[in-house]
Amino acid sequence: MNDHSQQHPDGVSGVDLELKDVTKKYAGQQTPAVDGLSLHIPAGEIVMFVGPSGCGKTTSLKMINRLIEPTSGTITIDGEDVRSQKVDDLRRHIGYVIQGGSLFPHMTVAQNIALVPGLLGWDKKKADERVDELLDLVSLDAGRYRDRYPRELSGGQQQRVGVARGLAADPPVVLMDEPFGAVDPITRQRLQDELMSIQSELGKTIVCVTHDIDEAIKLGDRICILQEGARVAQYDTPANILAAPADEFVEDFVGAGSSLKQLTLARVSDVELSPWTTVTVGESSRDALARAEQAGHSSVVVLDSRKRPRGWTWLRDLRAAETVPEPRTDEILGVDRRATLNDALDDMLTSSHGAAIVTGRRDEFLGVVDFATVTQQIQDAGEAAEREAAGTA
Ligand SMILES: Nc1ncnc2c1ncn2[C@@H]1O[C@H](COP(=O)(O)OP(=O)(O)O)[C@@H](O)[C@H]1O
Ligand SMILES: [Mg+2]
Repeated sequence: MNDHSQQHPDGVSGVDLELKDVTKKYAGQQTPAVDGLSLHIPAGEIVMFVGPSGCGKTTSLKMINRLIEPTSGTITIDGEDVRSQKVDDLRRHIGYVIQGGSLFPHMTVAQNIALVPGLLGWDKKKADERVDELLDLVSLDAGRYRDRYPRELSGGQQQRVGVARGLAADPPVVLMDEPFGAVDPITRQRLQDELMSIQSELGKTIVCVTHDIDEAIKLGDRICILQEGARVAQYDTPANILAAPADEFVEDFVGAGSSLKQLTLARVSDVELSPWTTVTVGESSRDALARAEQAGHSSVVVLDSRKRPRGWTWLRDLRAAETVPEPRTDEILGVDRRATLNDALDDMLTSSHGAAIVTGRRDEFLGVVDFATVTQQIQDAGEAAEREAAGTA
């Protein structure tokens, strides 16, 4: 299994990770929490550990950075046995991100992020620059957030800072334990999109625990489905797991309705976007209406001066104002082009405009995915699955 991922044109900075017959038996336990786990995780890939609660995901993850010592077995990072390294050194060179970000409440955002660089002896200037760079990477405005305290941030923002902290020392390996489990579904989707965008730039080796199979399908280059005792039920790409679940356990876990699941495999960037009438805050409503009517649209997308989508507006609301009004919230709408079609469908169903806004770099408006495109995709996937089934029967 040495086929390195082709998805990181900017280069892979991650390294290989190998678990060999790793077992953990906690004191007083009858059966091991992790029972002979063997797994190769290729450099630069995201591998998702997924499985029911208590099956040993967290224990497996924590043995990689030696937060938990295995009872037996070997773990190597880039060919080197983790036991041959000092525990502190090891942990400083492996990023670790957990639910909620686990930020220190009495430290500012900048201090939290600069924690490990500080331990590694970086000078202040270099650490400061790194903080700003990372805040930008996780889509937080550095000027606005670096000196805030965690309690002044939303859950999603705290989680972003947690991700930034995990990446601070530029570790080749990042471990994540249910990183987005504590935020609402919309924020979770955004954070997932951001993680994918970060990963396409950085090419880390990421091991990420989740109990959400949709999250695993979306983020994983490979998924490792674990059963009690961290026994591997199936370890493969999302597409292969959906197409051919190894056994009944996997089938149950992946769930029925696999044509809808196929929407989780397909990205917004895989389908053609449709144009939509856009209007800019402050422009004349009359001009905006003229364009919308010419295009036959009954609603328009409102953009701010940086071309970021800020809201849908019906034409009747445009008629009521001289100029296009400022939206009520400062939220940015839409799904990233890396989002799944499933995310886009969710967005559509909640916005009631029959289309999902798609954003690109710096949240700029790119176009929309409409309902017809998504239904066509479901139909195509269904037919492909039938052909597959007929072919293998
Ligand atoms: N510190 C511990 N001491 C004893 N048993 C533990 C400890 N941590 C976890 N376990 C047990 O080990 C098993 C696996 O736990 P865990 O790795 O946390 O699973 P998961 O992350 O998949 O929910 C569970 O049965 C859990 O109760
Ligand atoms: Mg756990």
